[in-house]
Amino acid sequence: MDKILIEGGVPLHGTVAVSGAKNAALPVVAAALLAEGDHRIGNVPDLADVRTLSRLLAHMGCRVERGTGDSRDSVEVRVPRDVRPEAPYDLVRTMRASVLVLGPLLARWGRARVSLPGGCAIGARPIDQHLRGLAALGAELRLEHGYVEARVPRGRLSGTTFAFDKETVTGTENVMMAAVLAEGRTVLESCAREPEVSDLAAALVRMGARIEGAGTHRIQVDGVESLRPVAHAVIPDRIEAGTFLVAGALPGNRVTVTGCVPGHLEALLEKLRAVGASVVPVAGGLEVAGGGRPRPVDVKTAPFPGFPTDMQAQMMVLLALADGSSEVTETVFENRYMHVLELRRLGADISVDGRVALVRGVRGLSGAPVMASDLRASAALVLAGLAATGVTEVRRVYHLDRGYERIEQKLAPLGARIRREKA
Ligand code: EPU
Repeated sequence: MDKILIEGGVPLHGTVAVSGAKNAALPVVAAALLAEGDHRIGNVPDLADVRTLSRLLAHMGCRVERGTGDSRDSVEVRVPRDVRPEAPYDLVRTMRASVLVLGPLLARWGRARVSLPGGCAIGARPIDQHLRGLAALGAELRLEHGYVEARVPRGRLSGTTFAFDKETVTGTENVMMAAVLAEGRTVLESCAREPEVSDLAAALVRMGARIEGAGTHRIQVDGVESLRPVAHAVIPDRIEAGTFLVAGALPGNRVTVTGCVPGHLEALLEKLRAVGASVVPVAGGLEVAGGGRPRPVDVKTAPFPGFPTDMQAQMMVLLALADGSSEVTETVFENRYMHVLELRRLGADISVDGRVALVRGVRGLSGAPVMASDLRASAALVLAGLAATGVTEVRRVYHLDRGYERIEQKLAPLGARIRREKA
């Protein structure tokens, strides 16, 4: 198992480019199932999660290939007329987003067998809202032997009005993908408004879907008979961008992040300014500089456009070094504080009571071996290692590789002393 070694306390200066968004690429690749033919999806990061979804599509009978040379950011998917509409446990187990094939499979073939994802390090993460939405469109769903066995008795899904009980990103994506081939109009209420939902809608519209309102709580879909293959480049990764912006905001650092969309990052930028970092738009991106010790600020996660739960762990590293105490409240996932114990090993003073973490700023962190528990927790440990004096060894790097493309190769040119060691 690889580990990442960081010799911290070295100031970071320079420019880093953002890759395509993992959480936008996954639904767009799944959406390819909605049309027979050759799809070309650009700006797809080369990450473990994308490879898992590619394996899943290949298992179903699609051909999935990453381009080479100048096209290495693109993924080509050839979808045959018929597929094996099944997502086995071994693939879903390693990546919950595999459940995104359920909507497209039901929409195009009227049947699907998809393993139920289990819980994960950040919480129980049920998929009841996905299933309720698909049932409202006319699917019959049974849970059997750990699988969702789904079929559409009428053959084709039917448009409906459906309100989510809870804002869910992949739930909104799944039900929207199902609705594009349903008969008639579907109105979805209380939808998630994340930029990744809007990007998926843009890709579906390019395929010939009729969708209005993506990016708001109310999405209207007028079903069409069939779709054409997609040619679409996914949006930049706002969480990867945010992770590098936090790196820039650490004391003594100055980092320019290129290729990001500032409009996707407003809640984070507001907090970075509040801790005293300078945030300046520059050609092609944003420059962030951290001066002295950050000021304490309270942070509460919320669905977009609120402060992203996927940035909570990284922001906590900045607050761990603040000149005072901050309160962090996690409202999206019930158990997303696995990084706290590891940050404490580096000298952070953080206590957790339910959904609230009290972060008492300390003057400095000191390197130590730490263990990654989930994707964003791993990113936080890397940031903490960069700020800490001495050597930090981040173990279980496979979590990091699920969502960050070559993170050590992106940080090293900024001056970071970071390297990967093969086990
Ligand atoms: N929820 C339900 N029932 C459902 C679906 C969700 O109760 O049927 C709950 C969840 O348990 C959670 C809340 O609703 O408490 C929000 O979950 P959501 O469904 O929005 O999360 P997700 O779609 O499973 C996506 C991202 C996550 C990100 C969350 C929140 C993808 C592939 N994943 O997950 O990304 O944290 O939205 O923004 O888009 C990551 O990239 O590290 C990551 C975990």
